[in-house]
Amino acid sequence: MTSKKVLVAVAWPYAQGPLHLGHIAGAYLPPDIYARYRRAKGDDVLMVSGSDVHGTPITVKADELGVSPADIVGKYHPEFLTYWDDLDIEFDLFTTTGTDTHRRVVQDFFLKLLDNGYLYTDTSEQFYDEKEGRFLPDRYVEGTCPNCEYPHARGDQCDNCGKTLDPIDLIDPRSKFSGTRPVLRETEHYYWKLSEFNEPLLEWLNSREGWRPHVLNFAIGMVTEGLHDRAFTRDLEWGVPLPVDDLGPGKSIYVWWEAVMGYLSAPQEWAEAQGTPDAWKAWWEDPDAESYYFVGKDNIPFHAIYWPALLMGHGGLNLPTDVPANQYVTFGGKKASKSMGVGRPLSWYLDRFETDGLRYAIAQNLPETNDTDLDDDEIARRINEELVATWGNLVNRVVSMTGRYFDGVVQQHGDLAPEDEAALARAAATVVDTGALLDDVKLRGGVARAMQGAQEANAYLSDMAPWTVAKTDLPRAGTILWVASQMIVSAAVSLWPYMPTTSEAVLEAFGVSTADGVAWRAPTVAAGTTLGELPPLFSKVELDDEDS
Ligand code: MF3
Ligand code: ZN
Repeated sequence: MTSKKVLVAVAWPYAQGPLHLGHIAGAYLPPDIYARYRRAKGDDVLMVSGSDVHGTPITVKADELGVSPADIVGKYHPEFLTYWDDLDIEFDLFTTTGTDTHRRVVQDFFLKLLDNGYLYTDTSEQFYDEKEGRFLPDRYVEGTCPNCEYPHARGDQCDNCGKTLDPIDLIDPRSKFSGTRPVLRETEHYYWKLSEFNEPLLEWLNSREGWRPHVLNFAIGMVTEGLHDRAFTRDLEWGVPLPVDDLGPGKSIYVWWEAVMGYLSAPQEWAEAQGTPDAWKAWWEDPDAESYYFVGKDNIPFHAIYWPALLMGHGGLNLPTDVPANQYVTFGGKKASKSMGVGRPLSWYLDRFETDGLRYAIAQNLPETNDTDLDDDEIARRINEELVATWGNLVNRVVSMTGRYFDGVVQQHGDLAPEDEAALARAAATVVDTGALLDDVKLRGGVARAMQGAQEANAYLSDMAPWTVAKTDLPRAGTILWVASQMIVSAAVSLWPYMPTTSEAVLEAFGVSTADGVAWRAPTVAAGTTLGELPPLFSKVELDDEDS
């Protein structure tokens, strides 16, 4: 099998507030699971993202706190890096949209669109705060959503119905600065001929296969309604400046059009840092390369519609292979989103749960097709019943019996009974079946299938009862433990994308080296291997009353 170039593109979080477990489940853990799987399969994965540092989400927050936008970014970007570290989420590069490379790539992209005839200048009326004497782009205006009548819609998007908005569509608009009703005033901007992409986008979307239905339906629905030309620039200093000066000062490129270009600039920054500045092209220009965009559902329009349209307008770059967007994780019914301000800090979870246990419980509850509720008791139950009682216990029993009966040495197996052959076939099937689900980006199905492998090993061990057999037929007990060991390492490989630390500990203890990474196949535990020391893989979680 030949190795593929796979771009794992992860939504760029605004560096203006902490992330919560909902964001991790929605956008940040899934790409890490998927990237690990593709790496284990032997593919050449590049996983990138970064802090989204521009636009009104950052400046509004800075204004509220009376600090500079750079101060806000300087606080949250480093904080994000600690999350990835704590959660074993491994980016090849997690940068920011504030780099020189990003500015260059965005400005070149702008010039390319201009050259290709997709940008034009025009004047229009935009909201202006007369009291403050300034224009009010995007989030500087709030009002009632014209689509769902939610009273606190922001000028750029409604958090309630998910629709992307233009401030002038809001009912009862209010200025964020003064609370006054803004007036309309003429201003000149660059506009993007998005209307020209209705047909090619619809054709492209209709030819997508294997996408999650909720993603495809939402995108096709939006394009079918008809896309209109959109302003490409804003009356805002904090952003990527235009590479042309015909609009005068005080303008920048709209944060969303510029942020999605991070998927193109981050691989270039990565390639420059490797000392191979052209290496990014293998992920972007080779039509065999694949790209997967991991985002929450509020980001679907930007990744399944606008970014593909920008790429079509640019030409010569790959369109997304898939946008496996997630729905929301709810906590007792409340959505955890930065802007809604619900949800506990991540540190609360990290203080109470081990990383692999937390990753596992989230993976078992990923909101791939529906909003999914995740509460603390569910996390604790998954860890206690499935990781401690099933998986960890299984591994420890096989290690300790091998120690007790055979001084820890894996025995050469004797004749295999039909049950043994069946068990070995199931071990191989665990890796194959989990892989097939991961190929379809069904990560929740994948973790359930991998854990089924551990449950099957447990059932085999109970049925074969080597502790009884050992009293009368020690070599037969050796064969049973050998078979159980094969089942364990197959389950460990299958669980590795979800729980890398504990799976590696298991594989190493059973003599399967992970020094060069984990390979996606059922490994063999060789006879004669001395099983290594293995402390309990997981500890039982007890939540205090005060935790709830
Ligand atoms: N910053 C946006 C958010 O937090 C996501 C941007 S994704 C990008 O919702 F692709 F545009 F960068
Ligand atoms: Zn709405």
